[in-house]
Amino acid sequence: MSNREGTPKFPDSYIGDKSIEYDNSTWMERNQKKTTLLCLQYLRDDKLDNLGNYNVLDGNHYIIVDLGCGSGFSSEILVDSGHRVIGIDILIDMLSKAKTKKKNLENKKNLELILADINYLPLRKASINHIISISAYNFIIYGTETIRDKFKTVNNTAIYLKKILKPKGRIIIEFYPKDEKELEIFISSFNNNGFDGFMIKKNPAQKAGQTYLLLKKR
Ligand SMILES: C[S@@+](CC[C@H](N)C(=O)[O-])C[C@H]1O[C@@H](n2cnc3c(N)ncnc32)[C@H](O)[C@@H]1O
Repeated sequence: MSNREGTPKFPDSYIGDKSIEYDNSTWMERNQKKTTLLCLQYLRDDKLDNLGNYNVLDGNHYIIVDLGCGSGFSSEILVDSGHRVIGIDILIDMLSKAKTKKKNLENKKNLELILADINYLPLRKASINHIISISAYNFIIYGTETIRDKFKTVNNTAIYLKKILKPKGRIIIEFYPKDEKELEIFISSFNNNGFDGFMIKKNPAQKAGQTYLLLKKR
């Protein structure tokens, strides 16, 4: 998600003082939480098929992975919505803030936080109901130089995400591809590796920038 100073850079925007600034920003908190609530709606979008009856009050909890959970704004909303959440982040400066938030959660046992790379997830096959990622997925190609490397990284990750999902598993991603080419690389990684779905953009004329991918395991 862009902030008032412009587009954030990985990892610089999320280390040391910048991570404190991020976590203290009420503007950022509001935006991350609003986007997470929208992604929870998209998770149940009938255009992906009817997901069936679901009621948290029946004790019917999903296990949701929050990819790039950062300082925990999104994970907090997911747990407060009644889900069991596994938050994954690669930077300890961000994850430590999520750990602090966890202490204040009513259902703290429903949040597990893991320091790991989205591209090398330490999760078991068919163990997860759904995956959500807010303002992080574009960073998975950080450090890749060539188009070939980018394709390889996003493909391998999509293949692994399919493996960890249970049948009927869905992925909702809100992210910021740099340009049309980059968007195409991400979309093809899911199309070619066992997912159906579609994209939503607030401004369809704009090829880069904020994009939602709504995906279901084929
Ligand atoms: C904008 S922040 C996340 C926002 C998050 N939704 C929240 O509520 O705070 C982006 C996060 O993605 C994480 N990230 C970037 N690349 C990653 C990777 N390869 N694996 C895991 N986390 C990654 C960064 O460390 C950063 O914390």
